[in-house]
Amino acid sequence: MRHIKVNRYENFSQTAAELMMNQVEKKPKSTLGLATGSTPKGMYEELVKHSADLSQAVTFNLDEYVGIASDHPQSYRSFMEENLFQHVRVGQTYIPDGEAADLAAECERYEQLIKKHGGIDMQVLGLGHNGHIGFNEPGTPFSSRTHVVDLAETTRKANARFFNSLEEVPEKAITMGTETIMEAEQIILLVYGEDKQEAVNRLLQGEVDEQFPASILHEHPNVTLLSGGVKVLN
Ligand code: F6R
Repeated sequence: MRHIKVNRYENFSQTAAELMMNQVEKKPKSTLGLATGSTPKGMYEELVKHSADLSQAVTFNLDEYVGIASDHPQSYRSFMEENLFQHVRVGQTYIPDGEAADLAAECERYEQLIKKHGGIDMQVLGLGHNGHIGFNEPGTPFSSRTHVVDLAETTRKANARFFNSLEEVPEKAITMGTETIMEAEQIILLVYGEDKQEAVNRLLQGEVDEQFPASILHEHPNVTLLSGGVKVLN
């Protein structure tokens, strides 16, 4: 795992955006895996600032809530539209459909779509306090593919800041599976802020354990951990 450490959030976001812009420059028809949440917001801002040309790229988001409409202000579709898609030229954008009548069929369709587009060239990930990647919560088998998850209570609480109350936070989501994520050619793991200190240090201890989903990334040949605003062990 390559590790890039930066201090300020601005540098962090610029570095992340550069990694993505380099990828698209090298391969305009890249398939990009995208994350939502607080951490990558600055990266999206930088991509917008630089009018990144993603017009030939195809994007696949990691996850989407189940049970809220795609135009709900807190859906991940809305997040992506507001933070990136409405502001740059981007080819096709895919996000799991959390409103699908048959959720299992939707998960399978998503897997097939990723395959049809030749797999993911560069996957951006954030890190949950409990080590989740996508919404693969602790205990999720490393062999999981795109599936429906019950969100951990800690994850719902962490995300409640975006909703009016904890009750409004959906209880389920669709997420790419750990194995789906591991098939990406390259992975960029974004970790910013003191509140991620414990999680990133646990990751850096190196033990691979399904109780800490991000630990599987040690077995991937091309991962860049970009960390900032956090004291790390090594
Ligand atoms: C978001 C996602 C999650 C987040 C993680 C960190 O699409 O899949 O795994 O990346 O919960 O979230 P933030 O960046 O808000 O701390």
